[in-house]
Amino acid sequence: MTGGQVSITAEAKTIRDGAFGNAVELVCRECSTTRELGPHYACHECFGPLEIKYDFPAITREQIEAGPANIWRYKALLPVPDDIELSPNLEPGYTRLLKANNLAAELGLKNLWVKDDSTNPTNSFKDRVVACALSAAREFNSKVFACPSTGNLANAVAAAGARAGIRTVVFIPSNLETPKVINSAVYTENLVAVDGNYDDVNKLASEIAGEEDGWAFVNVNVRPFYAEGSKTLGYEIAEQLGWRLPDQIVIPVASGSQLTKVHKAFQELIKLGLVEDKPYKVFGAQATGCSPVSEAFREGWDVVRPQKPDTIAKSLAIGNPADGIYVLDICRETGGAVADITDDEVRDAIVLLARTEGIFTETAGGTTVGVLKKLVETGLLDTELETVVINTGHGLKTLDAVADLVRPAATIAPTYDAFVAAGIA
Ligand SMILES: Cc1ncc(COP(=O)(O)O)c(C=O)c1O
Ligand SMILES: [Zn+2]
Repeated sequence: MTGGQVSITAEAKTIRDGAFGNAVELVCRECSTTRELGPHYACHECFGPLEIKYDFPAITREQIEAGPANIWRYKALLPVPDDIELSPNLEPGYTRLLKANNLAAELGLKNLWVKDDSTNPTNSFKDRVVACALSAAREFNSKVFACPSTGNLANAVAAAGARAGIRTVVFIPSNLETPKVINSAVYTENLVAVDGNYDDVNKLASEIAGEEDGWAFVNVNVRPFYAEGSKTLGYEIAEQLGWRLPDQIVIPVASGSQLTKVHKAFQELIKLGLVEDKPYKVFGAQATGCSPVSEAFREGWDVVRPQKPDTIAKSLAIGNPADGIYVLDICRETGGAVADITDDEVRDAIVLLARTEGIFTETAGGTTVGVLKKLVETGLLDTELETVVINTGHGLKTLDAVADLVRPAATIAPTYDAFVAAGIA
């Protein structure tokens, strides 16, 4: 396998007209070399990552608002065909943007919103990226839909593949939380647990992608198409705020793809005239036990040094993040920051969000809310400005994280006297 050229098409087949909507070509993020749209993910000149370039027609707010209450309302801004709604998929997105007044008061913020992506079909934001990858896999006529995953992605790939009727094979580190294992195995017979961390699983997936024909690994050889799905988080936040951008946004960082794509979405909305151009700050959140991007930010490095993950925030446990340097660039350029918190702070933040806003988040969301708190305490976040924090996954998948922190206030006999004696009245 060279230059990211792997065969993910089951048989040589011309790609139909309009397969990728308004996308026109792939462009290298490093050297800007372009190439035709296809199953490629690395630049043939410099091996840099490829991303999708578009030629957008005029797009109005009204057109978008007339679309379905899922990510396909933004289909004109994604590398998908105009008839995308006709092929079975999980129809993720258009999740709630909640005004979080209680959490804001607790943290001393004036104006705070939670973008709650835990209500997607498989309970994480990964349904968004997988829906775009599934469309690409279909257009490439791939025969297997696959991924290496820290847990949530495997859930989303297995479920989307089942609905689309395509064979799925998903790879996870063998030490994942039981609910995440079951949430994949229930949808697919081919869940492969690998003795190693995510970076080992990712390496194995790249090797298989190079050897096997017709396999679409969503975040490896279909990555340029997959990653675009995260832009829909940015579009939705802007639309739900009444077609404007927030002043500050806090986003979890594993590979860093989501953060870079939310920023790309905001830039596209500005260029298309769908929102007013204004400055905004982007902040990245990591857990200290896997914080290579936060370390690089703190140390002022231009490179991200890989780390060996050791944290309860397993969904964010990518020690060698593919988009880490781009996260650094965006957070520095916009005046934001990348910060990290300990596992105990992650646990406390899960309970804080639950008790202030009634939202049960997983460890990734605990990391993000905990980092939001830390950014306030360290003065990096302006408490006067409008802030959005993204909750990317559901707490029912990482119950163990808070199992020792929350329990019944009392176990009592079924009598009024016993209730009074418990001191809860
Ligand atoms: C719940 C959750 N949030 C955030 C992320 C981070 O995503 P990215 O790899 O795009 O940085 C992940 C990645 O697996 C995740 O599962
Ligand atoms: Zn290049």
